[in-house]
Amino acid sequence: MRILIIGSGGREHALAWKLKQSPGVDEIFVAPGNGGTASLAQNQPVSDGDVPALVAFAREHGVDFVVPGPELPLTLGVVDAMNAAGIPCFGPSAACARLEGSKAFAKEVMKAAGVPTAAYGVFSDKDAAKQFAVTHGAPLVIKADGLAAGKGVVIAMTEKEADEALDEMFSGRFGSAGETVVLEEFLRGEEVSLLYFCDGETALPLPSAQDHKAAYDGDQGPNTGGMGAYSPAPVLPDADLEKMADITVRPILREMARRGTPFRGILYAGLMMTAEGPRVLEYNVRFGDPECQPLLMRLDEDLFDLLRACVDGTLAQRHTLRIRPEAALGVVVAAQGYPGSYARGMSISGIEEAESSASVQVFQAGTRREGDRLLSSGGRVLCVTALGCDLADARDRAYAALKHISMPDSFYRHDIGLKGLKRLQEKN
Ligand code: AMP
Ligand code: GLY
Repeated sequence: MRILIIGSGGREHALAWKLKQSPGVDEIFVAPGNGGTASLAQNQPVSDGDVPALVAFAREHGVDFVVPGPELPLTLGVVDAMNAAGIPCFGPSAACARLEGSKAFAKEVMKAAGVPTAAYGVFSDKDAAKQFAVTHGAPLVIKADGLAAGKGVVIAMTEKEADEALDEMFSGRFGSAGETVVLEEFLRGEEVSLLYFCDGETALPLPSAQDHKAAYDGDQGPNTGGMGAYSPAPVLPDADLEKMADITVRPILREMARRGTPFRGILYAGLMMTAEGPRVLEYNVRFGDPECQPLLMRLDEDLFDLLRACVDGTLAQRHTLRIRPEAALGVVVAAQGYPGSYARGMSISGIEEAESSASVQVFQAGTRREGDRLLSSGGRVLCVTALGCDLADARDRAYAALKHISMPDSFYRHDIGLKGLKRLQEKN
């Protein structure tokens, strides 16, 4: 079986690492890949947003199965295009990927499906949006409708901030992604990421995970793609995963099927656990990055078989996933300046030493190889991930491994997992 993974992040390195363990997988290509996938698979210089080139590559190289990582190729219709070429591809059609590609669409589907979410309004006119902001008052959450790499959301704590954010959104900063804006009630609570394998009808939960979106310790600083993640998240006990699926995911599967566009792939519900109950903040239509890294370290199944079951519509034959009992935690090492501008080409060392413990995997994101050197090539550079007997142990192991890594002008958060530990202490 020849697999093509699309993408170049830590998630794609983790997917390649896990798929390489599947006995049915003989060969893995990654387009375009990174320094980490280069050592496991064959990187191919095809951009993740160039669907015709990806299909041409898959055809020419006899690819049997395609696994897109990021949202871009999914929203551009890579699944539809691969299927039209007769190549099975894991993930949602473009029609379903709109759940992530358009926040206004996701809200409309949530409303039709009866999924609890923040009260909202959708605007393509700046004055009307400003009027709504004045009527509702701050705090208010302002979201560009389209894809903005996790950076199109502003939490406005005052009316002035809301006013400025609306000026900025409608100024064209986010291109067509900002032509429509969703204004949302600000919700308080702890966030949790719930990912479900879906085959159009059936949803099978992965264990809960928690991301850390803000750049700096204490959830300070700008929003990023995610600075670290762990699983399980004590805010949501495993026993509640099925109940959460009934509230947040299965109604969406039914609604998408009713519309003639059944959802296959990973449906990821980003939830806020509020005092009034869970509220969906967003859907992603793919594995989260960095949630994927700790989740795949815990998954005790043949990943290829699972992906295949989603595509074939045979998930209902499984009742639960086999999950390792250990906790897993990953810390992202980023280039100084990320999520703003940052330098590239920094030399990275210490990965082998960090991985000398069997419980540690260093998943690479923005890296490239130049001869025998490993250089940084992106904002998020590594995700140092460890399994441990519990969350505290996984955290200790990940941070101990990080001490071996050296890269100039880099930073990482020191508090990944602390929220979960605090919750565990409160429970005891
Ligand atoms: P989204 O891309 O919609 O998930 O938003 C990115 C991040 O903004 C979320 O992970 C939350 O941290 C925050 N956020 C989004 N919507 C809300 C909301 N309604 N209330 C509070 N925080 C929010
Ligand atoms: N870690 C959040 C995301 O992948 O969107």
